[in-house]
Amino acid sequence: MLSQETKDIIKSTVPVLEIHGTAITTRFYELLFASHPELLNIFNQTNQKQGRQQTALANAVYAAAAHIDHLEDILPTVKQIGHKHRGLGIQPEHYPIVGETLLKAIRDVLGEAATDEIIDAWAQAYGVISDAFISVEHEMYEHATQQPGGWSGFRPFVVSKKVQESEVITSFYLTPQDGGDIATYEPGQYLTLVVDIPGQSYTHRRQYSLSDAPGKPYYRISVKREDARGNLPAGVVSNHLHETIQEGDILQVSAPSGDFVLDMNTKSPIVFLSGGVGMTPLMSMANTLMERRPAHSVTYVHAALNGRVHAFKSDLTEMAKRHPAFRHYVVYERPSNEDRSHAHFAKDGFIDLDWLQTISTQDAEFYFCGPTPFMKAIYKALKQWGVEDTHIHYEFFGPQGSLAD
Ligand code: FAD
Ligand code: HEM
Repeated sequence: MLSQETKDIIKSTVPVLEIHGTAITTRFYELLFASHPELLNIFNQTNQKQGRQQTALANAVYAAAAHIDHLEDILPTVKQIGHKHRGLGIQPEHYPIVGETLLKAIRDVLGEAATDEIIDAWAQAYGVISDAFISVEHEMYEHATQQPGGWSGFRPFVVSKKVQESEVITSFYLTPQDGGDIATYEPGQYLTLVVDIPGQSYTHRRQYSLSDAPGKPYYRISVKREDARGNLPAGVVSNHLHETIQEGDILQVSAPSGDFVLDMNTKSPIVFLSGGVGMTPLMSMANTLMERRPAHSVTYVHAALNGRVHAFKSDLTEMAKRHPAFRHYVVYERPSNEDRSHAHFAKDGFIDLDWLQTISTQDAEFYFCGPTPFMKAIYKALKQWGVEDTHIHYEFFGPQGSLAD
């Protein structure tokens, strides 16, 4: 238990630490990788370069500290992060390393302002926060291991089939090398892969959403090839998967995780809005719904640059043909003449509120995923429409960010 005095110190210093947020987190990662270079195998180095993770980890510690009296208030956030950690294989023994490094970084940046009293209060608070994470993650590890077909750590899977879904998206069908069962999952969850690329000094871990309904003898992921653009290099893992990994090759996979999942019990209409490869978790949700509740009212809107990069085109067209309650619309930013003749082509440009209001009702459950600008635009439109946050569900294909402007 933290004393009231400690809690007061924590609460009064959170705003100060937030002001120095980026400086502290940048220093934190410098110190972390210098003292524990083995962690380069776990952290996504591209997220580091883009600065996306810096704003996530330590800020989450501050947010937790601000709720130190009632950590249960931020349990959904702890669980969301816990899913990520569980998929990546973060262990209890990693927590003291992060804690000590964060305190060193605070000292380095704040200098004399970081008195012993403040550092001691933060050490205690970090202990409480990390216990909450460790306990949530312990339950997740138990669940992943004990459910039928479950496992801990990374398990070898054979790429049993590789299918090109569009010019840039390819599906990989994965079956366990040991021939055993595979754990089920909730539509919307993802797998974490660890990839060891010859010639590179550390391994790479990436998440890929399961893109088919559960209950099959395989897992399917669908990966967009991230090409080089301007000065930016090509994506490391997606290109390795597209170019090097062939049918029969082995991939190391951790059990499904993630909290962006479909509420199968809702009676409300469901609207799926996907941008580009953001369609993968929504395809799993749509396939599951149509298998289990084919009469449920579903509207699926997919936005893509054009028809050449549009994956699962015929799957969604078929779904709309078979199920009268499944309505499908396609929005192409820059359609060709051929794209305009697609049976479900609705408009060119982008999804906007005026148009959304013509194809959906406000009382729906909205699920969306796609590039960050797409997600921001959808979120803004839904808020302008007055949709409550409890009916808005989304996932970032990277560290959790903010959708507010
Ligand atoms: P990286 O090497 O990680 O590069 C990513 C991008 O950053 C590239 O465009 C690259 O050009 C750019 N970049 C590289 N260096 C820099 C730099 N210094 N500065 C700025 N930019 C730089 N992806 C899918 O394709 N399908 C999915 O179903 C899917 N599901 C996901 C689910 C979740 C929950 C999450 C978190 C992510 C998901 N992703 C999915 C994204 C996936 O995990 C990878 O991030 C993606 O494949 C890119 O990885 P990469 O190694 O190919 O690219
Ligand atoms: C991801 C918070 C401890 C390793 C994250 C994210 C947050 C976070 C907010 C981003 C989640 C997302 O993707 O949406 C925390 C907090 C911790 C903590 C508050 C302590 C209380 C740890 C520890 C490790 C770790 C001990 C292991 C050394 C990672 C990794 C990622 C991650 C590898 C994925 C980031 C990436 O690869 O880009 N964490 N974390 N975290 N965390 Fe933690």
